[in-house]
Amino acid sequence: MKVSIIGGGGRVGSNAAFALQCAGLVREIALIDANADLAAGEALDLLHGAALAGDQHIHASDLAGAADSDLICITAGLRRKPDESRLDLINRNVSLYKSVLDSLKTMRLKTSCIFLVVSNPVDVLTRLNIEYLGWPAKQVLGLGTLLDSTRFRSLIAQAGGLPPTQINALILGEHGDTMTPIWSTATAAGVPLMKLLSPAQQAEIFKQTQAAGAEVIRRKGGAGYAVGLSIAEVIHSVTLNRQRILPVSSQMNGPYGLKKVCLSVPTVVGRGGVEAVLAPELWPKEIAGIQASARALEETWGKISGK
Ligand SMILES: NC(=O)c1ccc[n+]([C@@H]2O[C@H](COP(=O)([O-])OP(=O)(O)OC[C@H]3O[C@@H](n4cnc5c(N)ncnc54)[C@H](O)[C@@H]3O)[C@@H](O)[C@H]2O)c1
Repeated sequence: MKVSIIGGGGRVGSNAAFALQCAGLVREIALIDANADLAAGEALDLLHGAALAGDQHIHASDLAGAADSDLICITAGLRRKPDESRLDLINRNVSLYKSVLDSLKTMRLKTSCIFLVVSNPVDVLTRLNIEYLGWPAKQVLGLGTLLDSTRFRSLIAQAGGLPPTQINALILGEHGDTMTPIWSTATAAGVPLMKLLSPAQQAEIFKQTQAAGAEVIRRKGGAGYAVGLSIAEVIHSVTLNRQRILPVSSQMNGPYGLKKVCLSVPTVVGRGGVEAVLAPELWPKEIAGIQASARALEETWGKISGK
C-alpha cells in the first residue's frame, strides 16, 4: 500500500506520517509539498527513526510521484486563524485545492485510488474532490467529524474519570460550526452516558469540543497529534480493509433525506473507500442538527460551485 500525503511537509501531514510510521502498517509513505525542502526534511527525520519503527519506504516526492498511490491524502492548505470559522477559509483554500486537483487531472492515477481529504473546509473540499476531479464518490472520504468525535470521547473520559478508549460517542454533520453531538447513543462500555453525566456536564463537554480546534491553534499554532492519529485510523481501515464504522465525510445519497452534500454520518470504511453509509435512528433534534449542517454546507457549495 502506497500512501502519498500532499501537504506532507506541513504540521498535519507530517504528524499523520508519524502516526503511520508508528503503526508500521503501510508499505510506502511519500511526502509531497509545495515547500519541497520542508517535505524532504520531514521525510529525512522520519527515515532516521525507521530502524526503531518499521520496515517502510518513507521519502519525499514531487506531485508526479503520487500517480501510483493506492491512497492520496490531501492536507495542503491554509490554517484557520483563531477567530476565523472553517467556512471562512473557503475562499482562500478552494482555489489552492483546485490547483492541486488540476495537476492530478493531468496524471494517470490508479483507478482504484482512494482520496482522503483533510484540508478545510473539509466537507466542501470532499465534494469538490468528487465533482471537480470527477472521481467516484465511494472512493473519496473526508476526515469529517472523526477528529471532533475523538476529541469529544477524550474530553468525556477526562470529565467523567473514565477510560477514553471505552467511550463511544459521536459528533456528526459538518466539521465546523454546526457539528452535532449525539448523546442518544453515547456509552461508556455500553453504559449510557446520559446516566453518568449531568446535563450541565454534557453541555460543557460539547462546548469544549466545539472550541477545541481554535484553542489548540491559539496555544500552539495548529492541531497535529490528534488529527494525525485520526488520519491514520482512516488510512489503516482502508489498508487492512477493516470495515471500521467511522464518522467520516462522504457524499450523501439518501440518509436523513440528504443528497449530494458531503458530511459525516457513521460510515463503513474499507479497501473500496466508502463501503456503506449507516443512518442509525437518532433523536429528532440530532437529525435536525445534521440537516442544519447540510443546509449550511449547501449554501457554501452554492457560493463556490459557480466560481
Ligand atoms: N479536517 C480536519 O479535522 C483538520 C484538522 C486540522 C487541520 N486541518 C486543515 O489541514 C490543513 C493543513 O493544516 P496544517 O496545520 O498542516 O498547515 P501547514 O501550514 O502546517 O501545512 C500546510 C502545507 O501545505 C503546503 N501546500 C500549500 N499549497 C500546496 C500545494 N499547492 N501543493 C502542495 N502543498 C501545498 C504548504 O507548503 C504547507 O507545508 C488546513 O487546511 C487545516 O485547516 C484539518
